[in-house]
Amino acid sequence: MSITPLIQMQRLMLRYPTGKTALSGITLDITQGQFVYLIGESGAGKSSLLRMFYGGIRPTSGTLNVQQTDMRSAGESKVRELRRRTGIIFQDHRLLFSRTVFENVALPLCVQGWKTERLIPRVRKVLDYVGLADRLWSYPEALSGGEQQRVAIARAMTANPSVILADEPTGNLDVDTARRVLDYLTALNRLGTTVIMATHDLHLLESHPGRVVQLHNGSLAGGSFEIA
Ligand SMILES: Nc1ncnc2c1ncn2[C@@H]1O[C@H](COP(=O)(O)OP(=O)(O)OP(=O)(O)O)[C@@H](O)[C@H]1O
Ligand SMILES: [Mg+2]
Repeated sequence: MSITPLIQMQRLMLRYPTGKTALSGITLDITQGQFVYLIGESGAGKSSLLRMFYGGIRPTSGTLNVQQTDMRSAGESKVRELRRRTGIIFQDHRLLFSRTVFENVALPLCVQGWKTERLIPRVRKVLDYVGLADRLWSYPEALSGGEQQRVAIARAMTANPSVILADEPTGNLDVDTARRVLDYLTALNRLGTTVIMATHDLHLLESHPGRVVQLHNGSLAGGSFEIA
């Protein structure tokens, strides 16, 4: 029995309105449960690819199916629904500094209309998971860079997504803190969440193995391989 890939691409191409071709013909399958590192030089197309996985930008040509959604033809409501099943972590975490840690992490659930009685225990649970349950009522500016990034992970996982997309989540962190952030993502992956992470921190692969997909100038370079 063959398993339908979580994300399927065929000859996927992206040209920005500026005329820049960021991705030129990517054919790749990502299956449920994989931990995928997207690597490649600056400008290779890593962020562009991740952005397409949550409908931030649409393919110019080729096919892209994400969790059974055709990303070329999907309407706005379908894309919104897909995003509810997707956790997104950015390099600069994008926390709301005027809101408490609790409010930041609760945001994806508020969007989904969760009632407060359910919301509070869930937010506590995910913050406990990243070791920040005691910082519920802090504001992000009172946290260190690594702690802020852990809040961003908690926010990405709070709605129990089937996939987490992370764009250089360790880019601003020291080696030890980066490893700890990776520990959380790996643990989530072991629980079944697919993780796709763009990174320049190749040393992380030694301690946290995964599937490596290398991009070079908008194309797949050297196929993809597994570091076990
Ligand atoms: N919004 C945009 N409009 C036009 N061109 C863009 C846009 N975003 C990215 N590009 C271009 O597309 C190419 C791929 O960019 P992308 O951000 O995907 O690279 P990246 O691999 O994530 O690089 P980095 O490692 O520096 O983050 C680059 O040439 C970039 O200049
Ligand atoms: Mg990038």
